[in-house]
Amino acid sequence: MRIVATVALLHLCLCATAAVSGNGFAETALTAAPGDVALLPCFTLGNVTPSLTTWMKNGREVIRGGGSSPSPSPAEQRLEVLHDGSLNIKGVTPGDEGSYLCNSSLPGNSTFHARVLLQVTRGPKDVSLSIRPATVLPNGTLVALRGSNISFNCSGSSFPSQWLTWAFTGASSSNSSLVSTFGSWLDYRIEDIQPSAQGVYSCRARNTVSDQAVNKSTQLLVYYVPDRHPECMWELAQDPSHVNFSCTWYGAYPTPTLRWREEKREGGINVTEVTDSLTVALNRSLLCDKQTLTCTAQHPALAQGKEKTCSFTLKSPYPKGDPLVMALEATSITLTCTESVSVPPAKNTWRKGLQQDLIVPSSKYVLSKEGAELKLTIHNISKDDEGVYFCHSENPLAVTELEVYLTVRTSSAYTGAIVGIFISALIVGSAVIIAKTVYSSRHRICLGGGFGQMEEDRGDVLSLVESDDEQIFQDTVPRLPPLTNGRHTTLVQIHRIPSSDHEDAETADTSPQQQEDTEQTEEPVDLVTF
Ligand SMILES: *[C@@H]1O[C@H](CO)[C@@H](O)[C@H](O)[C@H]1NC(C)=O
Ligand SMILES: *[C@@H]1O[C@H](CO)[C@@H](O)[C@H](O)[C@H]1NC(C)=O
Ligand SMILES: *[C@@H]1O[C@H](CO)[C@@H](O)[C@H](O)[C@H]1NC(C)=O
Ligand SMILES: *[C@@H]1O[C@H](CO)[C@@H](O)[C@H](O)[C@H]1NC(C)=O
Ligand SMILES: *[C@@H]1O[C@H](CO)[C@@H](O)[C@H](O)[C@H]1NC(C)=O
Ligand SMILES: *[C@@H]1O[C@H](CO)[C@@H](O)[C@H](O)[C@H]1NC(C)=O
Ligand SMILES: *[C@@H]1O[C@H](CO)[C@@H](O)[C@H](O)[C@H]1NC(C)=O
Ligand SMILES: *[C@@H]1O[C@H](CO)[C@@H](O)[C@H](O)[C@H]1NC(C)=O
Ligand SMILES: *[C@@H]1O[C@H](CO)[C@@H](O)[C@H](O)[C@H]1NC(C)=O
Ligand SMILES: *[C@@H]1O[C@H](CO)[C@@H](O)[C@H](O)[C@H]1NC(C)=O
Ligand SMILES: *[C@@H]1O[C@H](CO)[C@@H](O)[C@H](O)[C@H]1NC(C)=O
Repeated sequence: MRIVATVALLHLCLCATAAVSGNGFAETALTAAPGDVALLPCFTLGNVTPSLTTWMKNGREVIRGGGSSPSPSPAEQRLEVLHDGSLNIKGVTPGDEGSYLCNSSLPGNSTFHARVLLQVTRGPKDVSLSIRPATVLPNGTLVALRGSNISFNCSGSSFPSQWLTWAFTGASSSNSSLVSTFGSWLDYRIEDIQPSAQGVYSCRARNTVSDQAVNKSTQLLVYYVPDRHPECMWELAQDPSHVNFSCTWYGAYPTPTLRWREEKREGGINVTEVTDSLTVALNRSLLCDKQTLTCTAQHPALAQGKEKTCSFTLKSPYPKGDPLVMALEATSITLTCTESVSVPPAKNTWRKGLQQDLIVPSSKYVLSKEGAELKLTIHNISKDDEGVYFCHSENPLAVTELEVYLTVRTSSAYTGAIVGIFISALIVGSAVIIAKTVYSSRHRICLGGGFGQMEEDRGDVLSLVESDDEQIFQDTVPRLPPLTNGRHTTLVQIHRIPSSDHEDAETADTSPQQQEDTEQTEEPVDLVTF
């Protein structure tokens, strides 16, 4: 089988390269690999059988034979003149290389000459390339990680010698040769590989004698991820009970897989997509206090367990402020409420009365916001302004309100100076919390979620009163001696407002006198020094 194939190949070469040399001889170049059977043609025109053919190599006769009776060919004899005058070499060796001349005597006293150049070459064969370190995709493409040091090795075998080349075709360079050498292998190295080095790498081996070339190539992809973590953000909708949480992680190749999920809860939010920006639209029925939402970025360039994440823990709004405010008729008063815990941020409004009428800015009401502090300034106070105000905070989880009760006094009750101090003491010197959650869905889904017990309803009132002006508070709260270092002594009161009172602001918050009554009937008073 092998012989037949080789003969066929050599005939092909003959057809391709036969030419007539300057001295009128047909000239043929032949290549054969060591061990092959080579057939050197002589007279090939028509079916005339030469009577005698002589073959000379490099000017010396090597064999003669001929015509109708081909020379006997002992098994050990490698050379043979065939019936048609061609020379058959069995088991070519490197020494068979040379210039062969045939001289055929044809019937009718004519002769025919032909020259054959025999080259003994092999290969390139076993050409292979290796690129390390790289992982192999199912389609055979190799993947390297940006920043790694990559070694390329191209190898093959050729006789007598070969020329090896590493070539690269990428987005910005086509078919450029990187390195070349004579030898059995060719090493190439890229340190700190960058995405621009992504492309097709070809290892080419060319036999220096036969010019036969073999080409192996492979695609190399360079994967990368950004150093930063994904970014978790929220987009609040017009309707405050709806929210979109988005997670973005740009700058990774190929596109990462992002996943939004809920910590420590089976069956919760769990959305996965191959994208660099993943948004989940959620509403109040799916959200609850202290729920942690995490976005995880997965990527082939990140090792297992090294996924990058961002997260946030949702918190219901909790407006804090002074529940009792007193103002003098015909003056202005500013109600203050601080909301700094809500995640995502709450939408805050001021409302008035048990009907909770929304307060809109006007010459009477001035609304302002300084950081987490929300202020409502009421100008030209009259007795009609007395009553309950709500600092209403709403985020996608819950609605929480701070109730503020405004008492209006006529100026005749106190001297102007004392009232001024009194009001400033109440407004500036106090930090009182009284907030309640009006709406939250936590009873619906969060209790079953394994978060542990939710916090109790925040019905407690923490009243922190700085006893800045002893004169004013002498009648209303127990008096404490000032400390020698000049710091203020502070009274802390903790008492619970019964929840029935809590629903109805008018019974919960009244004048300072009533507050004092409450203190006496409830828990003992703690003393704290700041
Ligand atoms: C070819 O062979 C014939 C007879 O065998 C001989 O006379 C002749 O000189 C040879 N020619 C060459 C070029 O060798
Ligand atoms: C063949 O040719 C040679 C010279 O070219 C000549 O001497 C000889 O007589 C010829 N023989 C025949 C049979 O024609
Ligand atoms: C092999 O697969 C990768 C990823 O699936 C793709 O980017 C690449 O183009 C593929 N290569 C070939 C040669 O198909
Ligand atoms: C790459 O090679 C350089 C120099 O040989 C070395 O300093 C660096 O640490 C190597 N980087 C990696 C990722 O192996
Ligand atoms: C390249 O590959 C060849 C053949 O596999 C091997 O002999 C040679 O050591 C390799 N060279 C390097 C630098 O790895
Ligand atoms: C690449 O180069 C080789 C030889 O160097 C050439 O045969 C081939 O056509 C080239 N391919 C492209 C796409 O330029
Ligand atoms: C080697 O193969 C590559 C891709 O298959 C091709 O672009 C290139 O032209 C080939 N080169 C040679 C010399 O055959
Ligand atoms: C929230 O996402 C939905 C689709 O996912 C979109 O239709 C809607 O406009 C987004 N809302 C906001 C406030 O971005
Ligand atoms: C999230 O959903 C995927 C299928 O979409 C599932 O394989 C995975 O276990 C789920 N994870 C959690 C924490 O529920
Ligand atoms: C809230 O989202 C859930 C799930 O997407 C949906 O079934 C429900 O109708 C939504 N509720 C409102 C008020 O949009
Ligand atoms: C203050 O209110 C009274 C009645 O409530 C009104 O008559 C008076 O014009 C107001 N003064 C200012 C400055 O608005």
